[in-house]
This record gives sequence, C-alpha cells and structure tokens, in this order.
Amino acid sequence: MYTEKVMDHFRNPRNMGEIPNADGVGTVGNPVCGDMMTIYIKVKDNRIEDIKFKTFGCGAAVATSSMVTELAKGKTLEEALKITRADVASELGGLPPIKMHCSNLAADGLHAAIEDYYKKQKANEGMKK
Ligand code: FES
Repeated sequence: MYTEKVMDHFRNPRNMGEIPNADGVGTVGNPVCGDMMTIYIKVKDNRIEDIKFKTFGCGAAVATSSMVTELAKGKTLEEALKITRADVASELGGLPPIKMHCSNLAADGLHAAIEDYYKKQKANEGMKK
C-alpha cells in the first residue's frame, strides 16, 4: 500500500524532535482525523538553517513530515513557501488516496511556521521603533 520511500521515512524519520528557541513554530491540526503536527524552524540569512517536527498522527503523517523537513532545509523562506502539499506526496512516490489528507499537514505546518517567523520579525521591528 505504501511506497518504499514512505516506509523508509516512516521507519527512520529525519529531523524528528523540537528546536528550543525556534524562530518560527507552526502547529496545524488535520480536520479529517484530528491528528496534529508542529514544525519548528531556525532561520539564518533568510534561509531555513534547521527544521524539526513533532507529529501526533499516523504513519503517513510521520513520513510526510519527515519529507517536508528534508525538502525545506537550506531553502530560502520564499522557496520553502512554494512547497505544496502535492510536492510532498509526489516526492514520496505517491500516497494511497485515503491517506492523501495526511500529507496536507506537512506543507501546512511548514507554511504556518514561516508565517509565525514573519509575525515575530514584525513584532521585533515594532519594538525597536
Ligand atoms: Fe491523521 Fe493520517 S490519519 S494524519
């Protein structure tokens, strides 16, 4: 049912964990199943220097989270914002149709973390004035 790549990321997830003092944190929930995911990013010179995730979800959610961290690491924020739900699934060689909703969490979580970073930057600028 799952591709080898999905199984590999599920058994051996990349970048799992938390970043203390992350520059951006995004938590999203999956309305279909109620599962949750949090993405943490460290940003340096407008690039995602480090990224980690925590997922309370199914195997497909773990695999897609792991894949999105690999896709986003080292990218500029603008590039990372362009990573779509479909990119994550296709990088994994596809997901079974009933599991496609699981892959939404990963891209949404990444985008939420970047938006949180932008919000924090704006708040900091406001404080300097
Ligand atoms: Fe909830 Fe997959 S069943 S994310």
